[in-house]
Amino acid sequence: MTFLLLILSAMLNLIPAPVEYTPGEGEFTHGRTTVRMNGRALRKAAAGLPDFARKEAYRISISPRRIRIEALTPEGLFRARKSIEQMQATGSVPCGVIFDYPRFAHRGLMLDESRSFKGVGFIKKQIDAMALLKLNVLHLHLDDSAGWRIESETYPDLTAKTAWRIGWDYFAWERGGYKFSTKDNPEASGGYYSKAELREIVAYAAERFITVIPEIEMPGHSMEVGYAYPEVLCTTPDGRRCTGAWDLCPGSEATYALLESVLNEVMDIFPSPFIHIGGDEAGMKTWHDCPACRARMEEEGYTDVKQLQGYLIRRVEKMVRSRGRRIIGWDEILETGVPQDAVIQSWRGITGGINASKAGHEVVMSPNSHCYFDYYQDLIRKEPPACGQLVSLRFTYGYEPVAPGMDESLVRGVQANLWCEFIPNPEHAEYMLYPRLFASAETAWTPAARKEYKGFRKRARKLLDVWREKGYHPFDMDTESELARSGMQRFPPEGVPIIVDDE
Ligand code: ACM
Ligand code: ZN
Repeated sequence: MTFLLLILSAMLNLIPAPVEYTPGEGEFTHGRTTVRMNGRALRKAAAGLPDFARKEAYRISISPRRIRIEALTPEGLFRARKSIEQMQATGSVPCGVIFDYPRFAHRGLMLDESRSFKGVGFIKKQIDAMALLKLNVLHLHLDDSAGWRIESETYPDLTAKTAWRIGWDYFAWERGGYKFSTKDNPEASGGYYSKAELREIVAYAAERFITVIPEIEMPGHSMEVGYAYPEVLCTTPDGRRCTGAWDLCPGSEATYALLESVLNEVMDIFPSPFIHIGGDEAGMKTWHDCPACRARMEEEGYTDVKQLQGYLIRRVEKMVRSRGRRIIGWDEILETGVPQDAVIQSWRGITGGINASKAGHEVVMSPNSHCYFDYYQDLIRKEPPACGQLVSLRFTYGYEPVAPGMDESLVRGVQANLWCEFIPNPEHAEYMLYPRLFASAETAWTPAARKEYKGFRKRARKLLDVWREKGYHPFDMDTESELARSGMQRFPPEGVPIIVDDE
């Protein structure tokens, strides 16, 4: 790629930037769009690519009176059409030839529907946005201590007792003492997705070549499950239930009965080859003295309660495998033993991803340092309350998912996560997502050598206008502080979040 070509391709209004653009004269004004599927020329051009990239590869040849699309699959054709749609929306379709394919197989976004329930309309709207950005994995965090959001016929109290709570936003609920309620209480807020609604979301996403990966959290972040079904909680040595506990009891068979039943219902709804089983931040406090946990430890010859987490995850992994699926879990699951084909999602920085890939696991990189969009995107004093440190647009754009020493072939991809403790409603969620999701999409699709922030920033500003016209509520890049604009980051020491509060 010559310097001149690089400059010209940066002028193409497209996020993510394509792999190659050979400019022509003028721009498309009007005329026919033709499609050639599985043609020899594109097959040859894409021959050396990994399967996932070949599947999504496309070429678009643009002249003033004609657009010609070549693709090898309907997915490639869809990606090509989204490129044309985006260029048309931002003003022009310049002549030339675009040859394009993704860098990573997994280009994801996680939405947290437990902390704030946002509904089908919101999810479909974000799927539309994802499609335009060529993202292909929607990870739905469907349950957590703040509420269970997925209909279960076998354990109906999960929704009946915990999908509504006293406290519209997460912190009001926390301040009020974590009170759950029921739908008929006018003071309560919340909701859940019916199976029909989830199937509708899955189908809507599939039409846009987006896979929906459901997450069922365990064994931590599960206060609501124990509230609805106390038999999954640990007990004290004198037989009292550990009411309000954060973790499920890995000693009790009732826990496995619930998880198996719910996971079967989940796998009936979601055809995804991957099921996310959480696995993060188990407190393990109640496990030390619980008779069922102690008995399990003795039976298995364990010396540390942490081994119970590995026991639970491996048992659940077998349930998922028996349905022909694979698990993804947060990076903690690496520490207590999982089968080789478990995918590890790195969130506590990049260390989990590095360790997992060294151990031969495939990884999804979503380090909180760069990919947590609940973190501040600008200075505390100008932004609504948020979490963690400063993750500005420029900083997140600079993220390189393959750290030194990692085997790129084991990096399935990159994912942005939108935890919603600080995000009570859909508008605020969009404010935190855009334009940072543009940056994440480019990191996930475009070769690292083709990324360049100045050009990206210009394209992002144009695309934000389109986003506003489409009714999204993005952050206003024009108000960005110098610090955010500079892309500087105040790294916290490993594991200790800090808050950036001024220039
Ligand atoms: C996480 O942020 N606890 C995965
Ligand atoms: Zn227990």
